[in-house]
Amino acid sequence: MLRRFLLPGLAALALALGLALAQAQPNRGEIAVYSARHYDTDRRLYDAFTRETGIRIRLIEGDADQLIERIRNEGANSPADVLITVDAARLARAKEAGVTQPHGSAAVQSRIPAGLQDPQGHWFAVSQRARVIMFDRQAGPPAGLARYEDLADPRFRGQICVRAANHPYNVSLGASILAADGPAATEAWARGVAQNLARPPQGGDRDQFRAIPPGQCRIAISNTYYLAAFGASENAADRELFNRIGVIFPNQGAGDRGAHVNVSGAALVRTAPNRENALRFLDYLTTPQAQEILALGNMEYPVVEGVALHPALAAMGSFRAEPINGDRLAANAAEALRILQRAGWR
Ligand SMILES: [Fe+2]
Repeated sequence: MLRRFLLPGLAALALALGLALAQAQPNRGEIAVYSARHYDTDRRLYDAFTRETGIRIRLIEGDADQLIERIRNEGANSPADVLITVDAARLARAKEAGVTQPHGSAAVQSRIPAGLQDPQGHWFAVSQRARVIMFDRQAGPPAGLARYEDLADPRFRGQICVRAANHPYNVSLGASILAADGPAATEAWARGVAQNLARPPQGGDRDQFRAIPPGQCRIAISNTYYLAAFGASENAADRELFNRIGVIFPNQGAGDRGAHVNVSGAALVRTAPNRENALRFLDYLTTPQAQEILALGNMEYPVVEGVALHPALAAMGSFRAEPINGDRLAANAAEALRILQRAGWR
């Protein structure tokens, strides 16, 4: 009986609250965000931006290369204001394709470390993940494994699990090794890694470390956020897997280049019809609030100082990242992939 009155009462209250909110937030326009990131976290981020500014976000999702092509084809009439995608090489390709412009935001320039921005100001990172080496804690850390380069050592014969070479995560890793070590050393490295594979490359990053407890692989290569999600899971079996897997942040020695990171980044589209609102959005992405939503929601590393990590991510330890050079990664991508595949890493 009570319920019958309570529910319509609550509905009316919700409606009134909704109207009050709508009045407090007059329509201040809209921006179109073309995004190749497909995470629930990002929707929460967009909603928070709209609540704060009254600027609505029209989200167009797609594959990065499709979105770049779409903006090109739309030409001067493109509704796109902001492009968001994963992988520095792809961001550099968007710049090269002429679909972005320097954002000129002082807030972005001052808040984001220089190593996480395009030098010409076309894009900047909004979050990052490290590409790390994982192992079985029960078996202990593999001796002699501290750098990506060590993965080619014959002592790890038949032990490594990694996804296909042609995934952008591996292409960019290969491009970074090519930049650091040159083509001959990269080819020798790739051949060593291919010979050390426990099985033909298959699946995504999660499938690599998941194969460690059953003994299919002793060593896996994966991005950090996939493993951290298991640590944050409600499911006890997931957390057990998380506790079983150890993480090595590669290339941390004195003078070494640091761990390869995979960034997500944002750019102002060259023809952005709503430039001012788009800039507000780009600035918003660098605020502690936005950074916290990205970091806690998707287990990524924030790009600004003072934003807390998710405890599951923090539990993996801290590390030094290799500075990102998107142009170089993009320039090296095709050659890196050819080298990896020629070496037998399919
Ligand atoms: Fe991913």
